[in-house]
Amino acid sequence: MAKKTPKLASAKEAGVHAVDFVDERTSISGTLRWVMFRPIPKGTNWFYTLGTATMVAFINQVITGIVLGMYYEPSTTRAYESMKYINNEVFLGEFVHGMHRWGSSVMVILIFLHMARTFFFGAYKYPRELNWVIGVALLVLTLLMSVTGYLLPFDQRAYWASVVAMNIAGNAPLIGPFTPDIALGGPDVTTLTLSRFYIIHMMLIPGAIIALIGAHLYLVVKLGTTAPPWVRADKVSADLKEHEG
Ligand code: HEM
Repeated sequence: MAKKTPKLASAKEAGVHAVDFVDERTSISGTLRWVMFRPIPKGTNWFYTLGTATMVAFINQVITGIVLGMYYEPSTTRAYESMKYINNEVFLGEFVHGMHRWGSSVMVILIFLHMARTFFFGAYKYPRELNWVIGVALLVLTLLMSVTGYLLPFDQRAYWASVVAMNIAGNAPLIGPFTPDIALGGPDVTTLTLSRFYIIHMMLIPGAIIALIGAHLYLVVKLGTTAPPWVRADKVSADLKEHEG
């Protein structure tokens, strides 16, 4: 067997030292072990990957959104032009835009599938009610991302869809009359509306989603995941048999 050159060995050691250096000062390895190496219930299956899939879709939105944000201009005169520029001139611009646009639909589909999984597996029950409530907030914020993102390309479809959405919101009881002022920044869709939607879309809501995903995952790790109902039913009948026998 070929001997390791001293250079390679010392490079490897340097890596170990760097990890040790960080660990000694942060104790991060304990936290990582707590997160990564935890028991999972019998019967865990592919349906349990839907939460992670939703998170991957969100990460895709963040990365492609950052790239789009480097070229996008939130003004009524420049928004459509800047989208045209992204699609036609920027290297892989149309691809990144497509990933963002289609990714938003993928995220909405995945979040509903994940919610259905947790509902049908009874994962909303004690002690996970709080995680369900955090999930509902995540769902509302994800849908708000779709609404605020729809206006940004500022083509005919974006403009009229947003006008219709605002008219519907304007008819809501109590808060209805205030919605155009709060959301549009006045009675009409103007540059003020675009920059307002843009900031809500790329800072406010994503920030809240990141914080809530952090809380959501903390509770998942702390409480563990729920076993599928059929595994729990088997366990109950096995326990009963043991009790009777
Ligand atoms: C951005 C959106 C979301 C992300 C990234 C996310 C992520 C996750 C992940 C990774 C898990 C653990 C693995 C799994 O069970 O799939 C999980 C569990 C859970 N999620 Fe979500 N989730 C989101 C939205 C929601 C929504 C909308 C609900 C319900 C309204 C929800 C309720 C739950 C519950 C109750 C659990 C615990 C499952 C169990 O104990 O078996 N989540 N979530």
